[in-house]
Amino acid sequence: MPIVAPSLLAANFLKLGEECTMLNESEADWFHLDVMDGRFVPNISFGFPVIEQVTRTTKKICDVHLMIVEPEKFAERFKKAGANILTVHFEACPNLHRNIQQIKALEMQAGVAINPHTSVELLKDILDDIDLVCLMSVNPGYGGQDFIPHSIQKIKRLRKMIDDAGSKVKIEVDGGVILENAKQIIEAGADVLVTGSTIFKSNDPKATIAALKAM
Ligand code: DX5
Ligand code: ZN
Repeated sequence: MPIVAPSLLAANFLKLGEECTMLNESEADWFHLDVMDGRFVPNISFGFPVIEQVTRTTKKICDVHLMIVEPEKFAERFKKAGANILTVHFEACPNLHRNIQQIKALEMQAGVAINPHTSVELLKDILDDIDLVCLMSVNPGYGGQDFIPHSIQKIKRLRKMIDDAGSKVKIEVDGGVILENAKQIIEAGADVLVTGSTIFKSNDPKATIAALKAM
């Protein structure tokens, strides 16, 4: 059964409390929170005031996906804001190993996200140090984009790398995950499905989450 991590980027921010209640009552496993800085990605989302409020509403795991440069400047504040998993981008971190050590020292799980153009093989030498790979199946910055088909090959290659290494690192797939492709993504080897628009724009979000869990 996949871990389902709804992305609140697609939520109705005027009704954020109700959206959090809905997720808490649903079968969703994690809350996925997308932080964008307008520098690493061409968009700005939300920051600490929103995350602090959201994490207070839930006992579920809060999975914070940083699409920002210089994440080391803010790691401690994300911990204080309630992050359980902190994911930084491979492409944004020239001293990635140091970023990972910082996240672990703050007693969060460490994730590394890779953009569509970044090969999974580049993660080989940090696999032992991390808890999660966030494999971007769209170019980061916006919700509601189409899944890039080549991502399936990347998931399969990463699955093999992780299994061959006897590692427990989780594969999270983020971007363009819909009911129609979720099964194929899981069969390729994904552990975690991030889903924004598919859940929040559906007529019955809880049923959509249940359908993803049942894949
Ligand atoms: C994109 C974000 C994703 C996004 C997913 O940069 O990292 O988490 O919100 O949204 P959908 O499911 O709509 O592609
Ligand atoms: Zn994300």
